[in-house]
Amino acid sequence: MYTQLQLRDSTRPPVNVATLGRMKEQGEKIAAITCYDASYAALVDASGADVVLVGDSLGMVIQGHDTTVPVTLEHIIYHCRAVSRGLLRPFLMADMPFMTYTSREQALNNAVRLMQEGGAKMVKLEGGAGQVQIVEFLASHDIAVCAHLGLRPQSVHKTGGFRVQGREEAAAEQMRRDAKALQDAGADVVPLECVPSTLGAQITAELHVPVIGIGAGPDTDGQILVLYDVLDITPGRKPRFVQNFMQGHDSPLAALEAYAQAVKTRTYPAPEHCF
Ligand code: KIV
Repeated sequence: MYTQLQLRDSTRPPVNVATLGRMKEQGEKIAAITCYDASYAALVDASGADVVLVGDSLGMVIQGHDTTVPVTLEHIIYHCRAVSRGLLRPFLMADMPFMTYTSREQALNNAVRLMQEGGAKMVKLEGGAGQVQIVEFLASHDIAVCAHLGLRPQSVHKTGGFRVQGREEAAAEQMRRDAKALQDAGADVVPLECVPSTLGAQITAELHVPVIGIGAGPDTDGQILVLYDVLDITPGRKPRFVQNFMQGHDSPLAALEAYAQAVKTRTYPAPEHCF
């Protein structure tokens, strides 16, 4: 029974939480990327990426909203199902959308739906000290949890926009405490968005679980980017940390391979992508 997952593609066994932990221990960078459909999922799988996130960024890049706030659980389940059909090796994470984890019971019910209906292996919520009990509850039910810190897009209407977080000493200290508390509550991965590189490096060194950065400098255990940014599909002004990997490549697969390689060989992010 247990061999089935391994045999699906025996030269490339599926990534799981233990694989990610081992990669951190051994200093092997984790290449992560968002994805929203089965065709791109197959390319992302072939590119060598380790982790795929069905992010609520789909509200912006697929649905055309200004924020991720309008995204619902049904939207994520729909896209997650499609992505899961295109993947063999990468570990599939799904975002818990805005207001889908306001109580422990609601979070558990919704996490179960993402896993059973969407095929997700890990759920991601936007963390902070306020989410410690939710993370603890999900972890106590053996659900793999990812707690997103730094810039939290679901909170932009409260925090005042898409800005670098943790620049001031007090905010940086608070983020370090939150990261530790979320890890102690059972978070298995901590994505860190838009923070100064020094803070990214500090939090990565202080946690034993993998930290995956997006605009958090070169020293996190891995990097994640939005697929449509990597492929230069997103219109308009790009965040500083984005690199267009289509430049110099003649196909989406070549660009995705270049992204995964650049993360693995530490050539991305370069100093110009950092805060
Ligand atoms: O929703 C998303 O795509 C994300 C990544 C940017 C980390 O949360």
